[in-house]
Amino acid sequence: MHALLRDVGVPEPELRRHQRPHELSGGLRQRALIASAIAARPPFLILDEATTALDVTVQAQILRLLELFKEQGRTLLLITHDLAVVSQIADRVIVMKDGRIVETGTTADVFAAPEHSYTRRLIASIPSHRPRRAATVVDRAALEDGPVPSAGVTVAEVDHISRTFRLPGGSALRALDDVSFTLHPGRTLGLVGESGSGKTTAGRILLGQERADTGEVRVVGTRWTDVERRERSALRQRIQAVYQDPLSSFDPRHSIDRILTEAVGVLGRHDRTGRRLRVRELLDHVELSALLLDRRPLQLSGGQRQRVAIARALALEPTIIVGDEPVSALDVSIQAQILDLLVRIQQETQVALLLISHDLGVVNAISHEVLVLKNGKVVEHDSVSNVFDRPQADYTKELLAAIPRIHGAPQPISPTIGSII
Ligand SMILES: Nc1ncnc2c1ncn2[C@@H]1O[C@H](COP(=O)(O)OP(=O)(O)O)[C@@H](O)[C@H]1O
Ligand SMILES: [Mg+2]
Repeated sequence: MHALLRDVGVPEPELRRHQRPHELSGGLRQRALIASAIAARPPFLILDEATTALDVTVQAQILRLLELFKEQGRTLLLITHDLAVVSQIADRVIVMKDGRIVETGTTADVFAAPEHSYTRRLIASIPSHRPRRAATVVDRAALEDGPVPSAGVTVAEVDHISRTFRLPGGSALRALDDVSFTLHPGRTLGLVGESGSGKTTAGRILLGQERADTGEVRVVGTRWTDVERRERSALRQRIQAVYQDPLSSFDPRHSIDRILTEAVGVLGRHDRTGRRLRVRELLDHVELSALLLDRRPLQLSGGQRQRVAIARALALEPTIIVGDEPVSALDVSIQAQILDLLVRIQQETQVALLLISHDLGVVNAISHEVLVLKNGKVVEHDSVSNVFDRPQADYTKELLAAIPRIHGAPQPISPTIGSII
């Protein structure tokens, strides 16, 4: 098991063996699960979106293992929305839409000459296949190397933070090591790194949900450490979060109407009619039909749920939104829609966005600035074009090189990101 944990890219396997699942980051948990599935040496293995949440380098490791698995004459059924993974490992592909098979063939054929328009659309909507800020390319110049606008107005300062977790057995894990960044109105900072690199911890510290051991965090000029317990909720409203799985933060018994009306009510600014109007306005904002108001979260699609999560965040009129893997659980075509929505909302509200993702394509698509984390340390922090087109750190180059290539697929639209696909 020890060797297998190492093979699926679990660092410090000896130590991890003794950790409980909830103490592992999501990516590590998933790797441990894959290791145990392979360890059983079954003749047939079904992987249902099993590598979806993993970062590219780990994914590459797992794909190599699965390749070995195939070479031993074993069979793999890979269920995924990730076409790049399919193109790397599958021999044959079946494309499904609304419960029906729309296309089937050898992987080479399907990718080289997709017959169905849906397949072509899927291939075209992979984030790393799209130009940056795709739908609403308004300030492409500003997105590139431009200086921070608004004369450097800063809404959050994360200043040399470090955080160490004590692990069972007395050892210590340095989840963050001297990390600094700032957030600005109308700008997106992409926080990227492999799972376990400390992204979520950084987000939680910014949100005031986790403390830093050293260093300081100021949100709209106020230090978290200076805020009295009872004043915390006021500061917390200024900074909202959108997670990978909104279901975990919705009460499943509540209707969408109730979820949004309660969020609107928090500001205490509207009477009953005002709240109703505001809920409609928010729905418009995230392009959802009012017909969905009576539904419960489980009755919505993943994309619709994420729109509700964004609407709920907007209800509090936040200065900052932390998106922690906000599109990682969605199909590529829906991912693209949600990323476009975030861009539009940012242009309309000037909200500052911290976009946490293990997916470099996602970060590349809508960030202005990118920070690359490895083992809790900043290895690169620069404009999006510098990081993706002229990476300095070897680690960033490795990450870019590890992104699965789509074999035989049409060339990406933007030449600047062609090199990473
Ligand atoms: N509450 C905790 N207790 C112990 N270890 C933790 C805790 N939270 C996170 N970690 C560890 O800190 C590291 C960084 O985790 P995380 O910030 O979730 O990474 P990421 O979001 O980049 O995947 C991981 O090794 C994780 O196991
Ligand atoms: Mg995380």
